[in-house]
Amino acid sequence: MTRDVAGIGLGLRYDLATELLERQPKSVAWLEIHPENYIDRGGRYQEMLELAREDWPVVTHGLSTCLGSAEPFDASYLKGLGTFLRDLEIPWHSEHLCLGGVDDRFFHDLLPLPFTEESAQMSSQRLIEVRDAIGVPLALENASYYAPQGPDGLAEADFVVEVLQKADAKLLLDVNNIYVNGRNFDFDPKAYIDKIPMERVVQIHVAGHFVRDDGLRIDTHGEPVPDDVYELLDYTLRKTGPVPVLLERDNNVPPLDDLLSEVDELWKIYRNATGIVDAG
Ligand SMILES: [Fe+2]
Repeated sequence: MTRDVAGIGLGLRYDLATELLERQPKSVAWLEIHPENYIDRGGRYQEMLELAREDWPVVTHGLSTCLGSAEPFDASYLKGLGTFLRDLEIPWHSEHLCLGGVDDRFFHDLLPLPFTEESAQMSSQRLIEVRDAIGVPLALENASYYAPQGPDGLAEADFVVEVLQKADAKLLLDVNNIYVNGRNFDFDPKAYIDKIPMERVVQIHVAGHFVRDDGLRIDTHGEPVPDDVYELLDYTLRKTGPVPVLLERDNNVPPLDDLLSEVDELWKIYRNATGIVDAG
């Protein structure tokens, strides 16, 4: 049976898993996993997942099925992914709105799409293709990017909305990605949030990022969440209501207690912004 995903969650990352599963901190309300780490893999990963599911609702976030790819998807991988997701009984699965590869080469990175009508049309068709193949609700995630767009494209927010509407899709709204892109490409992150159809938002990501000496912001998931991103989260939650929020930390992972301090800060914002006083 699908369990409710609400409040503040944390990624089940290998570096933290043993301590997290032993301590079972009550402030962590749910966990996010990357299916790529578990499919066709037993041993410690399988054990971790089974232990996690005893205590927490689990949501999945994919890293390798880039929804804007022009390359054909790997049908056997999608079939296995669908089986894995349905067995987990997750409420939704998410993947990035980006390119993953070109000319049969996969880059293990999130490459930017052109924000054009043609690209929105293709991305929405690809999203529907993946959703049909896996047989569970699918949310796209807005990505960070570092290449400037050409002069004729849509604004990023308009592009994301186009894809959402064409595919009738759900959204994993990453507020750190919007903040990073806004600072790097000089747009107002709150104006972006204002364009999003909030009824489509099923999950929020929040993270820290690295600021280079030249001012470019890099979405590293390797730093504490900065105050400006907390503030954008507060602004967003006041519009979405109590959508579950995941703290992403994948690199430069600190001791668990440091992450739990950030989780506590997120709970404060979540409660203040949504008016929920009895969760967590
Ligand atoms: Fe994210």
